[in-house]
Amino acid sequence: MFDTLKPAAPDGILALMALYRDDPRTGKLDLGVGVYKDESGRTPVMRAVREAEARLHETQATKTYLGLAGDVAFNEAMIGLVFGDAADRSRLRAAQTPGGTGALRLLADLIKLARPDATVWVPDPTWPNHMPILRAAGLKAEVYPYFDSATAGVRFDAMIAALSAAPTGDVVLLHGCCHNPTGADLSIEQWATIADLLVERGLTPFVDIAYQGFGLGLDEDAAGIRLLASRVPELLAAASCSKNFSVYRDRAGAAILLGSNATEADTAYGQLLGVGRGIWSMPPDHAAAAVRIVLQDEALRVDWKAELEAVRQRMLRLREGFAEALRRQSNSDRFDFIAHQRGMFSRLGISQEQVARLRSEHGIYIVGDGRFNVAGLPDIGLDDLAAKIVSVL
Ligand code: LMR
Repeated sequence: MFDTLKPAAPDGILALMALYRDDPRTGKLDLGVGVYKDESGRTPVMRAVREAEARLHETQATKTYLGLAGDVAFNEAMIGLVFGDAADRSRLRAAQTPGGTGALRLLADLIKLARPDATVWVPDPTWPNHMPILRAAGLKAEVYPYFDSATAGVRFDAMIAALSAAPTGDVVLLHGCCHNPTGADLSIEQWATIADLLVERGLTPFVDIAYQGFGLGLDEDAAGIRLLASRVPELLAAASCSKNFSVYRDRAGAAILLGSNATEADTAYGQLLGVGRGIWSMPPDHAAAAVRIVLQDEALRVDWKAELEAVRQRMLRLREGFAEALRRQSNSDRFDFIAHQRGMFSRLGISQEQVARLRSEHGIYIVGDGRFNVAGLPDIGLDDLAAKIVSVL
């Protein structure tokens, strides 16, 4: 039967990871996959998470099943982290998932059950895995205009025009913050306009929030999703702990849904858990348990927030330093937008050929669309890096 299969198309981001690993050059630089790196180029286990893991090791008496929803206290804590007090808790339900991707897939399958003919509208561009996840769930997916490469901002009027024409019952995928791959986010006024449009047109928001705490701050990054949750009847949210708890490989996230009322939320939640039963049965526990311990323990929570804030501040400094170095080396303000955007990614706005030359001539790895990982930038030598970039323009 395998002879019927064609080779799978490689995933651009993961293929880049492998190319980088196999590159024997010293001085190579990985600005590809979205992983936070500190001053020494390491991705450390966060202090509070390490302490939570130690406590877990000491106190965990069994590894028996937790059930379809995973760790119930983790789910509650994630609802609090993402929504604060902005939404009616009686209408919110959460299920623990393997990473944010697991949440996206679970919710996509729920959409397919509830509205099999719905189209999911995704921003152009978006995280390269969004379309495959939606299509794997059997959903139709279309793009709406989002990023304006000329201004490095959001094409808001075009976005609103496209969504205004979407049929009632469709779903709109939005990045909660730190848009991946562009770093161009919506203002709170724009979120409000979108909320009105969604209500008026009968569209359901599906928010991917994978970088909460990496942009403007933990609460500020959730302001858009919270505003939606205070106004729309229904909402789907995929939250990831990979980045803000730095538990990438352990896979922890949450699929959260807001129903029109508690009864509908319960029904949808039952179906959501049933979908999970058919994919992974029950979610993996370890990182979610550590995150739950951190969020429930006042001292650990405070320390986690402080470390996350230091991570965010470092990325801001790197953004500013890199934009300045590029200004000096290119004698232009062409790259100034890097200092104004937020989160882990921006796009350099260079061609695929120029991206390939950066890799072959200088050992600098960025994604084919020009996306680079801000957290992968070196603290020293930004001018050297900027000069190499300018040399391929
Ligand atoms: C990224 O966009 O680099 C990360 O979300 C990692 C991934 O799975 O693609």
